[in-house]
Order: sequence, then C-alpha cells, then structure tokens
Amino acid sequence: MTSHLVTGIGELVTHDPRFDGPLGLVPDAALVVEDGLVAWVGPAAAAPAADRATDVGGRAVLPGFVDPHTHLVFAGDRADEFAARMAGAPYTGGGIARTVTATRAASDDELRTRLAALVAEARAQGTTTLEVKSGYGLDVATEERLLRLAREVTPETTFLGAHVVPPGVDRAEYVALVTGPMLAACAPHARWADVFCEPGSAHAFDGDEARTVLTAAAAAGLGLRVHGHQLGPGPGARIAVELGAASVDHCTYLSDDDVTALADAAAHGGPVATLLPGVELSTRSPFPDARRLLDAGVEVALASDCNPGTCFSTSMPLMVALAVTQMRMTVAEAVRAATLGGAHALRRQDVGHLRAGARADLCVLDAPTHEHLAYRPGVPIARPLTVA
Ligand code: NIG
Ligand code: FE
Repeated sequence: MTSHLVTGIGELVTHDPRFDGPLGLVPDAALVVEDGLVAWVGPAAAAPAADRATDVGGRAVLPGFVDPHTHLVFAGDRADEFAARMAGAPYTGGGIARTVTATRAASDDELRTRLAALVAEARAQGTTTLEVKSGYGLDVATEERLLRLAREVTPETTFLGAHVVPPGVDRAEYVALVTGPMLAACAPHARWADVFCEPGSAHAFDGDEARTVLTAAAAAGLGLRVHGHQLGPGPGARIAVELGAASVDHCTYLSDDDVTALADAAAHGGPVATLLPGVELSTRSPFPDARRLLDAGVEVALASDCNPGTCFSTSMPLMVALAVTQMRMTVAEAVRAATLGGAHALRRQDVGHLRAGARADLCVLDAPTHEHLAYRPGVPIARPLTVA
C-alpha cells in the first residue's frame, strides 16, 4: 500500500472536533492518504513519513463539496424561460413539461454526454459527491432510463417520478402509476425517492399525494427526501419529519411551527434542511431564512439544485457565497453546510469531512483560507486535489 503525504497546506478544514473551532481547522497542516482514504491529519510539524509527497504551496484544503440535490439528467434548453422571468414572468413549474418532452426524445447517448459534461463541470469546482434525481421522464420507461444513466455517475440516485403531473394526465391515475409500476421499475436503480410537494401549484403534489408517494417508496426500500416550501407554505417539512426523511429541500416559506418541528426532530436525526440559494438567485425570489433554522438548532445543507428551470448552475462555491452574502450564514456555517451538511443530508459517514477513515475527497483553493470561498464570489479558486 502506497502512502501519500500532502504538505504545505496553509489551512486544513477537517470537521474533526480535536481541532480548532466549528470547522476543525488546522493551520500549517499535513494529511496522509492511503488507499484512497485519509489515514492521518494534523500539524505539518507532526506529520509521519510517507512514500510520496505533494506540496500545495500554502493553499487551503477542505473536504470536497457534497451536493445533495441536483437534476442533471435532462435534454433541451430553457434559457428563454429564464430571460422571460428576468423580464417579469413568474416561475410556476410549468416549464418542467418542456424539459420532459425534450428528455423523452433524447437518446441514451445524448443524455449521457450532457450528464457527463455537467458532472465534470461540478467536479472541476470541487464537488466530489453529488446526488442526481430523475423527474424529467414522468413515464415508466423514461424514469427508469434516467435512473440507469444517473447510476452510471453516482450511487446517490433519487426517483422523482412525482415531480409534476404530466399535462393531460389525471392526478389520481398518475399517483397510482408512480406508486405502482413506475416505482417497481425504478426502485432497483434508486437509493432515494423524492416528491415535489407544493399544494398551491397546479403542477406539483399536495400533502396527501406526497404522503402516498413517499409511503410507497419507503415500503419499496427507498430513503426519503422532499421538495417543499419552494413556492409557498405547505406540509413538506412536517411530512419529512413524520416519515423520517433525510432531508427537506428549498425551505423558503417555512412557518414557525415548521421550524419548531424540524428543530425537535433534529435531536434524533430528523431531516436536514437543504437550502438551494441558486434557485432564489435565478428566480428572483426571497432567500430562505437560514439564520432562523440555524438558531433553532436545525442542521442546514447547501445544494446547487442544478436543473434547466430554476438554477442552471453546478457551482457549490457560488452557493457558499450566496449563503454568506444573502442568507446571513457565517463563512464557517456555509462551508460546513456545503460539505458535512450535504453528507448528513445523504446520510453518508464517509464523505464531507477529513477525519481519519474518510474518503480522501479533497478540494484545494487557490487561496490561503476557506473565507476566500465567499470573499471571492464568481472567481474559480476551488478545484479537486487528486492524490494518486
Ligand atoms: O427543484 N421545483 C421543482 N423542481 C426543480 C425545478 C425543475 C424545473 O423547473 O425544471 C427545482 O427547483
Ligand atoms: Fe430540485
């Protein structure tokens, strides 16, 4: 087994409570990788000998970003819808049907090529784990196809047959399809199931429908996630708590009761609140109140939600910068949410931190400290650090 020492780390974010502050920071640090795993972290002065060494020249190193919410398997383009929104049109979710039409018409290779390009784009900015949802097929064959393709790039695949009711299809019949033949075809390729629960929307699902879909998915062995409170108030957070979901995502319109329910559940591993500030940026909506969640003791994750409708960005550094500048998160809270928070939203122990035993998924900054992630918005300072 070859050991590899990374030296010259100006600042290392470990999330190891043995080290300093909320991020477990080690200044002038070193790290040893063996067999793809972190074998040792600590001050450079105490570093053990290793077979090989890489010097990162005083740069900051942190765990690779964990993006727990994306919709990367799709075809087509909705830049016109974005431009119309910037000219005053609202976002309703109605454009999802356009992506569904384009996605159904695309070949596996077309979808695979687009997906690979988006995954490469995310990785180039320091993302090392990402979740990918279906949801642009909305028929049995296409939903299954999207999950097969997603599985080729990540184990974190999510069945989102309950994204919207396809135009012209009866709601009750569609819920029966999703919970019956579609779930049966998709469950073998998915780790998770998700539902777009937004009772005020003509396209998405109400609380009863969401419960029906999630209960069936849990019975099929899938973990649960919920899209909720994106467009308005709703039951998404309470359903997530009630059914033991790993995460409730968006959380833009939460009531005080919703926050209390999430905070009470947090004590026994309740849902993470995953915030997607790229959506508010790209739909010109009010940003979620991250402070209210954090101050109540709810664990927060950040995700890109990369999708052709509400946020066509894979950039986790952008989400960190938005969280800090627009959602009143501290830089440390945002960096934690983009790494460890995402890992918890995916119930993963092996990523999102750099304690001994973690996967050696490393992100290096062309900067001396983690603060630069938010201090230098839009500047491509984050990249993966590959240690062979
Ligand atoms: O997470 N809100 C539902 N789904 C996506 C948007 C999908 C789309 O508009 O294509 C989201 O924002
Ligand atoms: Fe989403």
